[in-house]
Amino acid sequence: MTSSTTARIYRGTPRNLAMLANQLRKGRLVAVPTETVYGLAANALDPRACRRIFRAKGRPTTDPLIIHIHHLDQLEVIAKSNPTALRLAEAYWPGPLTLILPKMAIVPDLVTAGLDSVAVRIPRHALLRRLLKKCGLPLAAPSANTFGYISPTTADHVRSGLGRKIRHILNGGPCVIGLESTIVDVRNPDKIQVLRPGAITAAQLSATLGVAVAGFQPKPAKPGNRQLAPGLLSRHYSPKTKMFLHRTLSVDAIAKFGTSDAVLCYAKPNIPIEANIFWLDEKGDQEKAAHRLFDRLRFLDDQGYAAIQAEMAPPGPLAEAINDRLRRAANRD
Ligand code: TXA
Ligand code: MG
Repeated sequence: MTSSTTARIYRGTPRNLAMLANQLRKGRLVAVPTETVYGLAANALDPRACRRIFRAKGRPTTDPLIIHIHHLDQLEVIAKSNPTALRLAEAYWPGPLTLILPKMAIVPDLVTAGLDSVAVRIPRHALLRRLLKKCGLPLAAPSANTFGYISPTTADHVRSGLGRKIRHILNGGPCVIGLESTIVDVRNPDKIQVLRPGAITAAQLSATLGVAVAGFQPKPAKPGNRQLAPGLLSRHYSPKTKMFLHRTLSVDAIAKFGTSDAVLCYAKPNIPIEANIFWLDEKGDQEKAAHRLFDRLRFLDDQGYAAIQAEMAPPGPLAEAINDRLRRAANRD
């Protein structure tokens, strides 16, 4: 007999939220919905609780966590803020933007992987906001997947990956955005830099601040090389099935793949549809494509195809973030 899951999925009733807040106060883990992806949350100020996150995910302790807070007042407890950070917070919080700032001593070294900086955001998902308010704690939460696998965008994704490692999953429905937050280093106002592309682009940040913001520069970090780009491994979000990327997929190119490969087009191709042909969004709407990306990859990974042939997103506001996740999913290094 296979061992059964121990995780339960909870609806966001006041009673369940009170119980989950209590679990968090006791140092337990709760998987939580956010507008980006599901997170695996613990009290960010309790190193024993945070160690459970690393254990459940199989995540190396060289990969720092993001701290989620309810209110801007909590920022100064966690991090040393500055006017640039406050302007971005005002413009984008609650929302999918994570700020890197110098850390305060109260933040355990485990959370920041020994760095003197910390990642912070105020999330937008209403249920998580209620839970954050109820428990009154800053919550450290990486994506709620097994380390290296595709990030979860539904409560079922969390259960299928971590169901035997955790007990509590708060169901907030499918994540609206479906890609992890934009991470921006704002420690030096003269050198603001995007470290991970997300729904908020460098161009938007630049327009908000009125100064240049360096866009994401893919600089594959080797595992263990945490000083360069902590946690930003070139291989990540990986399905078990081999994946190949194509700038575009023409009708001819699609016809050449055997039916043993899944073909994941960006939009619905204008050809007779075979059972192995899929797409992210019929009309190629970029927000919908981003929203479905991880779910489609998980689905295709479970179908037993020999390979996934995936088409990249064409230029658009979310293309950089979508293509970053596709590149890492396809990377075999
Ligand atoms: O949308 C999100 O950000 C989701 C939800 C749950 O909020 N969280 C998420 O966490 O994507 P995670 O652990 O999968 O990614 C956190 C990443 C790390 O891998 C690292 O790249 C970056 O955040 N990070 C954390 N602390 C950092 C620091 N002090 N300096 C640079 N990068 C940091
Ligand atoms: Mg992650």
